[in-house]
Amino acid sequence: MEDVMPLDLKGVWAAMEECQRLGLTRAIGVSNFSVKKLQNLLSFTTIAPAVNQVEMNAAWQQKELVRFCKEKGIAVTAFSPLRKGGSRGPNEAMENDVVKEIAEERGKSAAQVCLRWLYEEGVTFVPKSYNKERMTQNLQIFDWSLKEEDHKKISQINQHRLLPGPTKPQIPDLYD
Ligand SMILES: NC(=O)c1ccc[n+]([C@@H]2O[C@H](COP(=O)([O-])OP(=O)(O)OC[C@H]3O[C@@H](n4cnc5c(N)ncnc54)[C@H](OP(=O)(O)O)[C@@H]3O)[C@@H](O)[C@H]2O)c1
Repeated sequence: MEDVMPLDLKGVWAAMEECQRLGLTRAIGVSNFSVKKLQNLLSFTTIAPAVNQVEMNAAWQQKELVRFCKEKGIAVTAFSPLRKGGSRGPNEAMENDVVKEIAEERGKSAAQVCLRWLYEEGVTFVPKSYNKERMTQNLQIFDWSLKEEDHKKISQINQHRLLPGPTKPQIPDLYD
């Protein structure tokens, strides 16, 4: 940990703003920024971030962060929108019983329920698949909708964020 240098956020952001002013990029944004980190960033930006990419799914719903970003005009992009299970922790999104039950009732897949829920929450999302059928399935979420009762059930799912994997550095304030 002693080799990790503190990030010069002001300097980095000023350089990113310059890239946008020079036309090298159309927009600049951040990832894994909490409300606290965004508040700090917004206190010195002349160009606000266009987007904040964070983990967001039925098992980590980020209500406060999404509210804050909407208020500030920052788009939210949800990564790990399906959050498949494995060794990373309980209540995975796509394999959650509530999600599976809703999927059964609506005649959709659990993945589609997860993605439709994000769409109805007003955020963008980046599902990943190496499988052509599943990629197609993940796009078929725009001609149907969840019911109010589905939203209520999903809002009651136990929440916990994705645990960092064993090979990832443990950065204590990553999500602060
Ligand atoms: N900014 C960050 O810090 C950060 C962190 C993590 C991830 N990301 C980005 O977020 C994107 C996605 O994240 P992710 O891979 O963690 O999670 P994800 O998209 O939630 O899940 C991907 C997994 O779900 C499976 N899958 C996809 N569609 C499915 C479907 N319809 N039915 C069943 N299984 C399905 C995929 O398997 P198959 O390939 O076999 O379909 C894959 O195992 C990536 O582009 C990644 O780079 C960003």
